[in-house]
Amino acid sequence: MNKILVTGGLGYIGSHTVVALQNAGYEVVIIDDLSNANVDFVDRIASITNVKPSFYEIDLKNQEKVNQFFRENKIDGIIHFAAHKAVGESVEKPLMYYRNNLVGLLNILDGMKDFNTDNIIFSSSCTVYGQADKMPIDENTSLKKPESPYGKTKQMGEEILEDFSNAFNKKVICLRYFNPVGAHSSSKIGELPNGIPNNLIPYVTQTAAGIREYLSVFGGDYPTKDGTAIRDYIDVNDLADAHVLAIARLLENKNKTKLEFFNLGTGTGSTVLEVVHAFENANNIKVNYQIKERRLGDIVEAYANNSLAAQELNWQPKISLTESMLTAWEWQKSI
Ligand code: UFG
Repeated sequence: MNKILVTGGLGYIGSHTVVALQNAGYEVVIIDDLSNANVDFVDRIASITNVKPSFYEIDLKNQEKVNQFFRENKIDGIIHFAAHKAVGESVEKPLMYYRNNLVGLLNILDGMKDFNTDNIIFSSSCTVYGQADKMPIDENTSLKKPESPYGKTKQMGEEILEDFSNAFNKKVICLRYFNPVGAHSSSKIGELPNGIPNNLIPYVTQTAAGIREYLSVFGGDYPTKDGTAIRDYIDVNDLADAHVLAIARLLENKNKTKLEFFNLGTGTGSTVLEVVHAFENANNIKVNYQIKERRLGDIVEAYANNSLAAQELNWQPKISLTESMLTAWEWQKSI
């Protein structure tokens, strides 16, 4: 049985990916520093899969602890999620973002080099494209300088991985996620936002739950059909499946080049108001909202061309926006 290290495995996308990996028969070891995750997710994962994943509480900036981990565990492949991810916070605290997201990655790569692990999947983001000139966005779209230090850490991460794979002959897949939404159908795992949510869906669910008075819709004058910005909302369980396919591709040496990139999105753009209405209709509940000023740094639209992932990974998103809105609400009610 192949042993997969999932860093950030107790976080939002990480925990769903651990479930998918275990269901596919992999042995999973999680590293998480619990900076934006809860340790009870280990048991929550086990309650879904009936297998308790091993868990190490390690801060990846601590190289000695990372090396010790690699000494104790023979790892076949790594899925590296662990990173800070709040765009606004990264503008306030750039050094914290560079230190955490880049030093953590470097320590993992040193571990791969010194302890002979050949395969890594990197959590990247559609933020590396900035406001692309044409839609949908495919993997050949030229990258733009990201607006935020967070986005820059993703772009730099991809560049570091390119040099790493060339120098040490390691296999790398960068997965560029569009906007992850939804929760596991069991409602046992989902997104746990820290404080006031930055992202749309947790803000919507907290507004529906009465925790927030109203949702501010950032911008009603974009050049789109209803004036609100367009994103590609992809279910977290579909994202999780893509990670299982990607790690299998590397373990089975089916990759075409040492370094590959795949967009993970549905291929469909939805406006903010379409998402709000999808949530309302799916759950038969009203969401108070007010149209406000545009949010600084936001782009007008981003949605994926996902045909490369379809062709190479044999990946197809299966879960509709309506279903994601149902599971997001079930999860919100359970916490
Ligand atoms: N939005 C609102 N009100 C809110 C929150 C969001 O109207 O309270 C709008 C935003 O303006 C945007 C859309 O909802 O138009 C989606 O916003 P999110 O904050 O949920 O997501 P972003 O597209 O801004 O950011 C996401 C990830 C980042 C990633 C980025 C790449 O959160 O990690 O996609 O584009 F970098």
